[in-house]
Amino acid sequence: MSLLIKNGEIVTASERYVADILCENDTITHIDKNIPAPKGAKAVDAKGKFIFPGFIDPHVHVYLPFMGTFAKDTYETASKAALVGGTTTIIEMCCPPRADDLFKGFEFWMKNAAGKSACDFTFHMGVSKFDDKTEKQLREIVKRGVSSFKIFLAYKGAFGVDDTELYRTLKLARELGVIVTAHCENETLIAERQKELLATGKTDPGQHYESRPPQVEAEGVNHLMSFAELTGAAVYIVHLSCREALAQAIAARQRGVRVSVETLIQYLTLDKTYAERRGFEGAKYVMSPPLRDKSNQPVLWNGLRDGLVQTVATDHCPFDFKRQKVMGKNDFTKIPNGIPSLEDRINVLYTYGVKAGKIDLHTFVNCASTQAARTFDLFPRKGTIQPGADADLVVFDPDYRGRISARTQHVNVDYNVFEGWKIEGRPSVVTVRGEIAVREGTFVGKIGRGKFLQRKPSHF
Ligand code: URP
Ligand code: ZN
Ligand code: ZN
Repeated sequence: MSLLIKNGEIVTASERYVADILCENDTITHIDKNIPAPKGAKAVDAKGKFIFPGFIDPHVHVYLPFMGTFAKDTYETASKAALVGGTTTIIEMCCPPRADDLFKGFEFWMKNAAGKSACDFTFHMGVSKFDDKTEKQLREIVKRGVSSFKIFLAYKGAFGVDDTELYRTLKLARELGVIVTAHCENETLIAERQKELLATGKTDPGQHYESRPPQVEAEGVNHLMSFAELTGAAVYIVHLSCREALAQAIAARQRGVRVSVETLIQYLTLDKTYAERRGFEGAKYVMSPPLRDKSNQPVLWNGLRDGLVQTVATDHCPFDFKRQKVMGKNDFTKIPNGIPSLEDRINVLYTYGVKAGKIDLHTFVNCASTQAARTFDLFPRKGTIQPGADADLVVFDPDYRGRISARTQHVNVDYNVFEGWKIEGRPSVVTVRGEIAVREGTFVGKIGRGKFLQRKPSHF
């Protein structure tokens, strides 16, 4: 089976040129000018379009048991949404709650995804406790092709680890060459502030921010940095939202800590005033860490531009507004935390980042694809366009004009935080290992085509 993409402008993290791309079976086999079409090849005319490597979202939740409910996507809905939005690989947080067996959790998450995804996928293995069995189980999970862990410094009792568990996880990761992704917020500060706010009758969604101000996140980052420094483990800060937290990461990097930083499309474009909206509307915008003051946005955009922030993810975590967010109607601490955005990350990043002049095209590709591939042991199979790489390609139409709406989205949730926002450009054709999965906003792929991506640790 072959596919020939003609005359597109190929853009990677470092190159930009016009050429044809020949894909045979799963792989890019040839890139050149005027490649003759092999007999029986499908052809796509990409004149006037960009061709980007398939985008990678390194932080999503498809299934997440959390705050008394569940994130509501399935692999079918999430992978369709990802592909329509140009994301061809997702890395899901496999998060067995502390009370559950870690290995059974891994098998459960795998069963949930295998054979049901239209895009490729892998997991960060959540370590929600470190007991007698954990080390053996983690060694086995790494052997099965998972080369990154996930730990939470917040959400104690659910997923959060204590300092002994944190230290042991990082030591093991260091030995195995595994990178540890981490949610950094100080749990004690959050719990105390939540109590104080509720005691004074402050129950609305806007109070979520007050319970988790920037210092709470910066303290979490500093905490992780100290442990990473002492163990030598490579770490990756998920969903970094503010200048105070970034300053801690940069200071640690200067001391030699191996740390990468992820921010989210939400922090780049939304701010805390959304969560202050009246009539409980603000609950749609409650996530952790919270949306910040707008003055943080240039810090994050400039961080991407200057290489201080490596990736843009979504932390996609879909909870319905009407049936799930409403659980926190009279108490903001009970609003399920999460803002879905898997489908919109690329279009919003392109429109409000590239078109707005905040980042260039190479930075766009780098932070939404290449860096995630490099950090999580997928490069050069994913994250670039070159012979031998998987033929995951996004033919992107820069002339498309449209608006985002929950009415037309594929994610399984009843709202969209970017409702009505203009987009300038979108994927017109998306391929998964050489097969067309999307045409002009319509999913035409196959459920079950998505593969589990085995990865080998590299962070020794
Ligand atoms: O609010 C958030 N971020 N929800 C998803 C769980 C997590 O912390 O990543
Ligand atoms: Zn988190
Ligand atoms: Zn998350």
